[in-house]
Amino acid sequence: MTVSAQTGETGEAVHDVRLRVNGVVHDLRVPARRLLSDALRHDLGLTGTHVGCEHGVCGACTVLVDGRSARACLMFAVAAVEVDITTVEGLTRPDGSLGPVQQAFSECHGLQCGFCTPGFLTTITAGLEENPDPTHEEARDMIGGNLCRCTGYQNIVAAVECAAVLRRGGSRGPGPGGPHASITEAGGPS
Ligand code: FES
Ligand code: FES
Repeated sequence: MTVSAQTGETGEAVHDVRLRVNGVVHDLRVPARRLLSDALRHDLGLTGTHVGCEHGVCGACTVLVDGRSARACLMFAVAAVEVDITTVEGLTRPDGSLGPVQQAFSECHGLQCGFCTPGFLTTITAGLEENPDPTHEEARDMIGGNLCRCTGYQNIVAAVECAAVLRRGGSRGPGPGGPHASITEAGGPS
C-alpha cells in the first residue's frame, strides 16, 4: 500500500498508511512528521520499541525492516509502507515462547534495567541472520551501535554467542565458568 493525503482536524495534512508489523496489517492516519517509533508505540500500542535519544545514537528504538536493523526514530511512518516491520514483540517463536536471542539474554543475564534491551534483541537478530557464527570480536562488533548504561556489555556479548548456539539448535546447560561457558552445540559434548 500506500499513502494518501487528507487534511486533519488541526489543518495539518495527514496520510493514510498501511503498515505491516509483526505480520499484521494496520491502517493508520498519521501526520507526515509522525516518526515510525511513535507510530509503533502510540498508534499501535507496541511499546516494546523504546525511545532514548531520538537522534539515531542509542539504538533503543531499533526494529527490523525487511529483516535488517533500522532506527525507528529516524524513519517516518509514511516511509515505512511496503516493507515488513518486526518489533521486539515479533521476536517470539510462533508458540509465544522466547525466541533464541531473547532466551540467550535471559540465560546470560544480558540485561539489567532493560531499557536498551529491545534494541539489542532486534539488532542481534539481524546480525545473526547475516553472520550466524560470529567470533568473539564479531559478536562485539555486532552490538557496537547500541548503547547500554547498565551492563558493561560483557553479558550482552555472551548473549550474542549464546544466541548463535541456540539458533543452531544447541543448548546452554547449567554449570560454572561464566555466562556462556557451558553452551553446547546440539549433539556435541556437554
Ligand atoms: S531512540 Fe532511536 S537511536 Fe536512540
Ligand atoms: S540494561 Fe539498562 S540501559 Fe541496558
